[in-house]
Amino acid sequence: MKRILVIGAKGMLGRDLVTVLQTSQSNDLTKGFEIIGWDLDEIDIGQEASTLSRIENLRPASVINVAAYTDVDGCEKNRDQAFRVNAEGMKHVAMGAKACGAKVVYLSTDYVFDGKKKEPYLESDLPNPLNVYGQTKLKGEQYLQEWMEDYLIIRTQWLYGRHGKNFVSSVLRQAREKQVLTIVDDQTGSPTYTIDLSKAILALIQHNSRGIFHVTNQTACTWYTFGQAILNFSKMEGVKVIPISSESLGRAAVRPFYSVLDTQKLKRETGMSLRHWSEALKEYLGEINSK
Ligand SMILES: NC(=O)c1ccc[n+]([C@@H]2O[C@H](COP(=O)([O-])OP(=O)(O)OC[C@H]3O[C@@H](n4cnc5c(N)ncnc54)[C@H](OP(=O)(O)O)[C@@H]3O)[C@@H](O)[C@H]2O)c1
Repeated sequence: MKRILVIGAKGMLGRDLVTVLQTSQSNDLTKGFEIIGWDLDEIDIGQEASTLSRIENLRPASVINVAAYTDVDGCEKNRDQAFRVNAEGMKHVAMGAKACGAKVVYLSTDYVFDGKKKEPYLESDLPNPLNVYGQTKLKGEQYLQEWMEDYLIIRTQWLYGRHGKNFVSSVLRQAREKQVLTIVDDQTGSPTYTIDLSKAILALIQHNSRGIFHVTNQTACTWYTFGQAILNFSKMEGVKVIPISSESLGRAAVRPFYSVLDTQKLKRETGMSLRHWSEALKEYLGEINSK
């Protein structure tokens, strides 16, 4: 049986992606395919020899790499570890996939851009990462492009979903603990639901798409606006939100002020356009609050 391997399958995106791939068994892509999810228990992509042999022995038809060191501030302090997982890790996966003729999909980030453009970034725009996380993810993209002619790179941003710590869970937790929250109001991006992203990843694979694609939910907002929407949709309007600057937060990693991704290429390729971020958020909150 042909296999699709998801690496990073226990992470926030990985869990939803495996579910979306498994539940789409009726369509042509995954019909007759076995979906296999690996995480750190099964593979450490930072280790070259074992990564190569694990992938070669499995002989998957496709490998989707969503494993990463995703603590953006942690990456500033642990540069070597960030490079080992995000950059070298992607190279090792590409080497293993190449050895058995598998296709590779890599999840990358808006943080490859410096945020100075002031209008949505195209796939063809020149990256210029401001922080270590962005640098290591960009290096991962470059390794993949060096090793494989046939690659799919999907850049996304501001993810939230049921299976990981994220901005939505953090705002809800803080709102249960205190009456006043402070949220950054000078960074603009597109909040993106992991289920919607997983469906777009599936669509791109189904279209046998190659190259770089930007995938996010539609339209952009600041973290402050996103935070207010989370509270409003959760009927927690009593909690006050004060807008603050990124500078006042004093975080280790510099973030781009404007890293909105243009997703027209996804629409042209697949006919698909992800819904407005507030619609996705409403559905997500409805789901987690009903449990
Ligand atoms: N979250 C976002 O807002 C965002 C935005 C843009 C792009 N992305 C990209 O989207 C992808 C998924 O992100 P996510 O938020 O779902 O990440 P996540 O929840 O942190 O999941 C990543 C998974 O990879 C695993 N992992 C870490 N190091 C590994 C290694 N050396 N070998 C194998 N597995 C390893 C992690 O295990 P541990 O948890 O045990 O370390 C975790 O299960 C990543 O490529 C990320 O760069 C995310």
